Amino acid sequence: MGLPASVRIVEVGPRDGLQNERAFVPTAAKIELIERLAATGLTCIEATSFVSPKWVPQLADAAEVYAGITKRPGVRYPVLVPNEQGYERARAVGAQDVAVFTAASEAFNRRNINASIDESIERFRPVLERARADGVRVRGYVSTVLGCPYQGAVPLADVVRVARRLHELGCEEISLGDTIGVGTPGKARAMLRAVAAEVPMPALAVHFHDTYGQALANLLACLEEGVGVVDAAVSGTGGCPYARGASGNVATEDVVYMLHGLGIATGVDLERLAETGRWLASLLGRDTGSKVARAMAVA
Ligand code: HMG
Ligand code: MG
Repeated sequence: MGLPASVRIVEVGPRDGLQNERAFVPTAAKIELIERLAATGLTCIEATSFVSPKWVPQLADAAEVYAGITKRPGVRYPVLVPNEQGYERARAVGAQDVAVFTAASEAFNRRNINASIDESIERFRPVLERARADGVRVRGYVSTVLGCPYQGAVPLADVVRVARRLHELGCEEISLGDTIGVGTPGKARAMLRAVAAEVPMPALAVHFHDTYGQALANLLACLEEGVGVVDAAVSGTGGCPYARGASGNVATEDVVYMLHGLGIATGVDLERLAETGRWLASLLGRDTGSKVARAMAVA
């Protein structure tokens, strides 16, 4: 199969990128990050997470962040919700797009959301019912699709089963997450192919972490399989606090550079994005996690 003409990037930096940061990032800085990202041409920016503030203190200001951002026309600002309580908090500030999340691995799910896969799906049922009635779009995440920090290998059949259940439940888009970044291109391709046999490819997204430096290679393999939605985090920030050993997401700058180099349109201004990534890195007190942004700074 050939490569797509365009790809939709789901920027997860403000959520996945920041959720694992130890030092609290001030609310105003989170809002500024989202505003800067929207100004680069990104059309989908995952803004925050209405999870338990005890579990993820960094995003305890979810309501303030969501309420504080300018809602640009043409830009979507999804938020994570683990349960009905999260859905209510998100709706109270006007969220129009939410994302539920579970995993293909029981061991990871227990640590991340204190529930089995079945229990998590039961929690999502009322969220999806209410979202349907409210006209709210729901994305579903499946974590640990290429490996689990606690269980090790994750059978493909489990990934397919969980993705299919989320889709049947009404999730419009299913994001397949290599939470700890252990995948390699052949495995990523086989995983996507297996899921796409049960869930239509246009409803699938891929979400790579770059722990082993394989994220762009995995992404290319999945683009060749026909995926058209890609998650990434500016400056390569991120990681799940409940996934031992997980490091950052693939950097959005690196994804955009590769896609543009392949002649694939993204609608994103790479210069502005790289500048935003460097701004974020300096805010977090470190160098940018994007090789492209680093190279552009000296070029
Ligand atoms: P629990 O402790 O089992 O929940 O946590 P509970 O229902 O027993 O509630 C305990 C307390 O939390 C109660 O408060 C609830 O009110 C409160 P208390 O009575 O003790 O004062 N609570 C909430 N407060 C605010 N908002 C809520 C909420 N729900 C309950 N929504 C729970 C279960 C799911 C809440 C918890 O485990 C949790 O919040 N986990 C979130 C973990 C997380 O955010 N992980 C990172 C995101 S996933 C990820 O990064 C992977 C991804 O990027 C894809 C990939 O890379 O693979 C998406
Ligand atoms: Mg992630």
